Amino acid sequence: MSGLRISDLRLTIGRSEVLRGIDLEAPGGAITGLAGESGSGKTMTGLAVIGLQPAGSKVSGTIAFDDERDGVPNLLGLSPRAMNRLRGRRIAMVFQDPTASLQPMLSIGTQLTDHLRHHLHLDRRAAMQRAVELLERVRVPDPQAAVRRYPHQFSGGQLQRIAIAIAIACEPAVLIADEPTTALDVTVQAGILRLLRELTDDLGLAVLLVTHDLGVMSAVADTVAVMRTGEVVEHGTRYQVIREPQTDYAKELIAALPSTPPPGAGVEQDEVQP
Ligand SMILES: Nc1ncnc2c1ncn2[C@@H]1O[C@H](COP(=O)(O)OP(=O)(O)OP(=O)(O)O)[C@@H](O)[C@H]1O
Ligand SMILES: [Mg+2]
Repeated sequence: MSGLRISDLRLTIGRSEVLRGIDLEAPGGAITGLAGESGSGKTMTGLAVIGLQPAGSKVSGTIAFDDERDGVPNLLGLSPRAMNRLRGRRIAMVFQDPTASLQPMLSIGTQLTDHLRHHLHLDRRAAMQRAVELLERVRVPDPQAAVRRYPHQFSGGQLQRIAIAIAIACEPAVLIADEPTTALDVTVQAGILRLLRELTDDLGLAVLLVTHDLGVMSAVADTVAVMRTGEVVEHGTRYQVIREPQTDYAKELIAALPSTPPPGAGVEQDEVQP
């Protein structure tokens, strides 16, 4: 089974210890939630996995990438070139702002096919066919027409679906999703979370879902790790962490939760057409 096993991950930037020995597993076919207050190190953990930590930071520890095809005992030991080969192909990422992974001046079809041709060496026709299939997979309406449109012609929720389509285009084993629904409307959020759940189950993806929002966690994560000042202070099934938090810190985070609609509620109502 594919997935990540992180042990004693440490990251320092200048004199500040941003990650102070993270232990975390993100197995395939499951959503592993990474929660915690702002500045606790969630994003840095995700960036360290794909080798995009800020320039000048020092990283140590082990990030084992278990995978039958491209597994490596420690991603941190890879050359930049070897990491480049894995990034975007076997280990993919989506961000809070979907436009971060999209070019405003290029059609969606061009962006998807460029990605597919670059990583999978497909010809133009095969790449376009796969692009349409991918848009169907993430439920962008009318994929045949969508490939000819530009990013500004889509709603935020649809753009996030497109960013997810690009992320899964090369059939990654690991997907890091950093606050993928934070910028979206609540009703649209539920649809994106449901899509992540489906892709996790159908493709056996190991999803590391980074969010400060325990409400999002309680909707979809299988296990939840709670971070504080660069450490994982609590880690368990979503039920354990949300219902029976052990630390005062987790209790406070949960007490601060707004009431969240159940997953699937009000899904996609405003996601019909751009
Ligand atoms: N480029 C940088 N240089 C120096 N310190 C940084 C840099 N980026 C982040 N940090 C510090 O690293 C720590 C962890 O930041 P990180 O972005 O991982 O937090 P986070 O948990 O994702 O927070 P948020 O919920 O606000 O996204 C913070 O203390 C932050 O100030
Ligand atoms: Mg962050």
